[in-house]
Amino acid sequence: MATSSLLFGLGAPLLLSGLTLLLCCWTVAQVVYCRYFHPLSVFPGPFLASFTNLWKSYQVLLGKYEDTLLKLHRKHGKLVRIGPNHLDVSDADSVKNIFGAGRTYPKSTFYDAFTALRPNLFGTRDEQVHSTRRKAVSNSFSAQSVASMEVHMDRCMEKLIRRLDSAAENGEAIDIKLWIAFFVMDVLGELAFSRPFGVLDSGDEYQMPPVREHVLLATTSGQTPWVVPYVNSMVPHVPVPSLQRMVRGRKDLRQMAIDSVNDRLRSDSTRIDLLGRLLDELKSGVDSKGRALDVVDVQTEAFGFIVAGSHTTAASTTLLLWHLLRNDEAFAKLRDEIDSVPRPSSPSYPYSSVKTLTYFQAVVDEAFRINPVFVMPLMRVVPDGGRQIAGSYIPGGTDISICNHALHHDDSVFGPDLERFLPERWLQPGYDKHAYLMPFGGGHRACVGRNIASQEIYKIVASLLARYDISLALGSASDGMQRMPQTKSFGVADLDERFMVELKLRTPIIV
Ligand code: HEM
Repeated sequence: MATSSLLFGLGAPLLLSGLTLLLCCWTVAQVVYCRYFHPLSVFPGPFLASFTNLWKSYQVLLGKYEDTLLKLHRKHGKLVRIGPNHLDVSDADSVKNIFGAGRTYPKSTFYDAFTALRPNLFGTRDEQVHSTRRKAVSNSFSAQSVASMEVHMDRCMEKLIRRLDSAAENGEAIDIKLWIAFFVMDVLGELAFSRPFGVLDSGDEYQMPPVREHVLLATTSGQTPWVVPYVNSMVPHVPVPSLQRMVRGRKDLRQMAIDSVNDRLRSDSTRIDLLGRLLDELKSGVDSKGRALDVVDVQTEAFGFIVAGSHTTAASTTLLLWHLLRNDEAFAKLRDEIDSVPRPSSPSYPYSSVKTLTYFQAVVDEAFRINPVFVMPLMRVVPDGGRQIAGSYIPGGTDISICNHALHHDDSVFGPDLERFLPERWLQPGYDKHAYLMPFGGGHRACVGRNIASQEIYKIVASLLARYDISLALGSASDGMQRMPQTKSFGVADLDERFMVELKLRTPIIV
């Protein structure tokens, strides 16, 4: 007994040093291989990124990943190596070649990190499941269907306007970013679950879904896919408050989706909503391809709608207003154009009356160009056999991505002066760059919710500009200076602080 304890006492440190040595050798070998012998070693990029994906996780946590990618492309060109097996491409032709190639380039393992219940329409890598699910929801998301739901947006708009009117009458500065987020959230509730979430009534920001936490957790962990299966079970035990907040956020968000679907199932509402066809399929227990479909599948899609549809739309609208407030000329031109259409009988502008306004379209395009908000690189896998991309042969199995923010600031694609908010660029004769404008992604995995988002953005901006004079609130920043807030991203870009404005009702007041 004593001898074996002694042996064990001597053996354990030896074993430990042996293992450490082995680990060091493996790491060095890995670094040397990735850096000098890997098929992607010929592509430029940050040194750390060439042998570890943790470089990307770190960039996400810094909140400026998309800016870093833009700088890297400006320095190195169209193809940049940002992971041992990952290239980011910024190139006009590659948009069509990758995103326009049907189901040839599947989504990468990065998307597994977005799963909280089961893989949903957004995250699934199974192209057959994607095809069936997409068919099941696309009718509800069509322009016609979304137009038929406008009445529900109008109800939310009236609540928003009531609150903003009261701020205007009392001379109170108001956080427009927050109230736009409330509006978008309640609209999502109305459209997806046939009832608002009630945040416009409560004005309580703590009732807002913790989308930020979930997306940050997903974009950080998704860079190193091998950790993903352990995130939900292990991370709660790691004593780092920010990590715990993220996992708690995801859990709360999941519960919110479950409750919303369960409430919808209990309600006797006969309204057509975004879940409509899936709920019909649920009754039969199978999808259109005869695969089993249960309530968790519906909750899974509901979770995806809340995550993909709330923060994105709110941040896009907020940033558009942000640019308008920094550009008096654009603001004035847009308002003149909105004033030129007949005033509606309610404070909520009908989408049909403003969506075809030429300058308005240029403003929306330019806002999406300069701040596409869904800025995480859209990752796909190069199919077997490899492909020519941006003038180079890329082996099959390589992760390939396009970051819309980097592409939108590429002057070889969009021309000069790209840091300026300049709607006029879209009005130049022959300037047709819409094929490269990808705030909603591209191809068969492009955003299914873009009709909803566009309808909301046009309605909010038209209704606000027609009704109020809007200016940045003096002294709203923490240092008391009047300045514009900055953007920060966690996969989705947004202003990183409150956006306090002062509103004055214009005369004559519209209804
Ligand atoms: C301005 C607002 C929005 C932006 C910028 C945006 C952006 C995007 C982008 C870039 C993608 C593609 C992601 C990829 O390829 O990995 C996407 C997909 C998706 N979005 Fe949106 N989105 C917005 C609003 C919405 C809304 C309102 C909804 C639903 C209520 C929604 C639901 C989805 C879904 C379900 C997908 C996955 C589609 C598929 O793979 O078939 N989005 N979105």
